[in-house]
Amino acid sequence: MIIGNWKCNGSNEMIVSWCADYDRELNGNDAYVAVAPPSIYFSKFNSENKLSNIVGWGAQDVDHLDGSRTGAISVDMLVDTECGFSIIGHSERRQIFNEDNSLIREKLKSLNKRIMTILCIGEAKEENDKGITKDVLKDQLEIVNGLELDTEFTVAYEPVWAIGSGLTPEPKDINEIHKYIKDVVQSNSENNLSPKVLYGGSVTDKNAESFFKEEFVDGALIGGASLDGSTYAKIVNIFNGIDK
Ligand code: 13P
Repeated sequence: MIIGNWKCNGSNEMIVSWCADYDRELNGNDAYVAVAPPSIYFSKFNSENKLSNIVGWGAQDVDHLDGSRTGAISVDMLVDTECGFSIIGHSERRQIFNEDNSLIREKLKSLNKRIMTILCIGEAKEENDKGITKDVLKDQLEIVNGLELDTEFTVAYEPVWAIGSGLTPEPKDINEIHKYIKDVVQSNSENNLSPKVLYGGSVTDKNAESFFKEEFVDGALIGGASLDGSTYAKIVNIFNGIDK
């Protein structure tokens, strides 16, 4: 699974050229590959207006309630579209919008079994330096405790220090963390689900293969490199070339 998180980027013109570049570069595809554009552009990707062979699209975040919540988009609204997933818990939501574990758990509960959830977790640089990465991730994963998770529930491991920095952990360390995440979710969810785990943080067409080769890396959540259609298609081609 390859997901492109466009964050607050995009425009009408950019989407037209992105789609043309993506389609030109892609050598066929059998994986789930999607982008999460700003929600105002969702309609550019639906089946009526489809500009590209991109498989799916989804939301960068969602609100767990509806009604008097200016600016919010609810799960029911996402269900009304062809939205394939929603990301929740991105470190930018945690840092800039002060989202905490209890709010993110509410979002997970409202999406669960309705729209595929991609839960982002990751440690800060100081936490990594202190060697407490697994403790931090375990704490963030507490939100699944006691929930019967949808079988499509997915985690994205995004070390905060790797996002947009050009720095990444070593592939073997990512693999070990992904195995840990799968084990923690399996022991704490009601239905003992072992989720797919994506890696996110400075993934490019140059380093993607080193991550995708690792046993417990089920794909990637890509920021900056997903904004260029041709680079994104190159990463998808690399993913498809690896026998998983
Ligand atoms: P970059 O790929 O730009 O490091 O961003 C990763 C990310 O935050 C995806 O959600």
